[in-house]
Amino acid sequence: MEKVIEQTKIESFKQDNIDHTLFSWSVQKSMNPIEAVKADGVYLYGRDGKKYLDFSSQLMNVNVGHNNSKIKDAIKEQLDKMAYVFPGVATEVRGELGKLLKEIAPDNMKKTFFTNGGSDAIENAIKLARLYTGRQKIISKYRSYHGATYGAISAGGDPRRTPIDRDQMPGIIHVEDPYCYRCPFGHKPDSCKKECVSHVERVIQFEGPETVAAILMEGESGSSGCIKYPEGYWERIEIIAKKYGILIIVDEVMSGFGRCGNWFAIQNTSVTPDLIVMAKGINSGYVPLGGVMVSKDICDYFDDKPLPLGLTYSAHALACASAIANIKVMKENKLPERAKEMESYLIKKIDELKEIHPSIGDFRCTGLLGCIELVKDRETREPLVPWNAKPSEMGPTNTIAASLRQNGMMTFVRWNWIFIAPPLIITKAQIDEGVAIISEAIRLVE
Ligand SMILES: Cc1ncc(COP(=O)(O)O)c(C=O)c1O
Repeated sequence: MEKVIEQTKIESFKQDNIDHTLFSWSVQKSMNPIEAVKADGVYLYGRDGKKYLDFSSQLMNVNVGHNNSKIKDAIKEQLDKMAYVFPGVATEVRGELGKLLKEIAPDNMKKTFFTNGGSDAIENAIKLARLYTGRQKIISKYRSYHGATYGAISAGGDPRRTPIDRDQMPGIIHVEDPYCYRCPFGHKPDSCKKECVSHVERVIQFEGPETVAAILMEGESGSSGCIKYPEGYWERIEIIAKKYGILIIVDEVMSGFGRCGNWFAIQNTSVTPDLIVMAKGINSGYVPLGGVMVSKDICDYFDDKPLPLGLTYSAHALACASAIANIKVMKENKLPERAKEMESYLIKKIDELKEIHPSIGDFRCTGLLGCIELVKDRETREPLVPWNAKPSEMGPTNTIAASLRQNGMMTFVRWNWIFIAPPLIITKAQIDEGVAIISEAIRLVE
């Protein structure tokens, strides 16, 4: 009887979701969402107690895993003291979080402006860079995503921006990616002339260096296919930026907070950014939070000028409390180091899969931010499903997605990419479990 009541309740909330809420990026009529009832560790539980291995940390944000008691307790404790005060008021948690972020960030970083998430953090980073330099243009990559608000989606080059292209924010200049598996300049690794870098400098010269405020790039590429930066790429970009007095904004929304084996992916290089954009893993998504961290130079600039930024929920006390607990959990459990360790294990497991699946063309991963790229033929590298495929071309993608769901996995499948970005607490046995589910899904399309 209890089970029947439970089923009816689930059916009813699912229908309410469909009837009365809008789902992101989807044809609304096609929605058949998983009904999430609870989550714990690396698993989510749905209808009939069905267990799903969370192989994407939801939106690559639940870095410490679900249902972490320390984060829950920190939120509850803060809630009992005070949920909210306006952003002009000082609170213990806001100060403590600002200090913690300063400790884990590159040395030149000083202060953080807190936002509600990643997109508004990007908006504010662009504003700051434009105000500080007095220049307008922002250079970013075609194969990138920086959020869905007007400025942020214009900054991204991902096709998610095309529906609003006509109305995009002015001043964004897109450049090619250093996509070594499909080099846009037609090179193989042994003939590489680093044209991905000289191309950026050439674009800056065409645009007029004195008009370029910042270069905006992800610390490591995420939903655009985890296109790993080749060795030395970031350092070369930094040389160009310094040469022309251009700021570096590194978007660590997805790549930060241990995901790529360090607090921030940029710390895997020797680059000193001017602004760091963060969200997602900052508090593993327990409540919404984002931020822009800025260098001492940018802080000094605003010491005697009003800062023209503001959000009602900037530095929300519950969000700050959850982020402090999240960073402490990461430190105690050495989760950034663990992501690095698990990267090696994951690469080994996918290498084994390559032996049995000829359609695995490439696997790119940094820490636990990874993606399998599927091809029709390893020699020609023709994608199994084209980039930005039409619905009529999505057959294999849909088959894979359905198989993963059926066999108890949640992750993203986009065109010919299967993403692997589990919570950083994942064990080797759980990685094995996930890789077996992916193997079965790939088998169906081979
Ligand atoms: C690299 C990157 N930047 C920015 C964003 C936008 O963050 P949010 O969805 O929290 O606004 C995302 C979201 O996926 C992202 O991956």
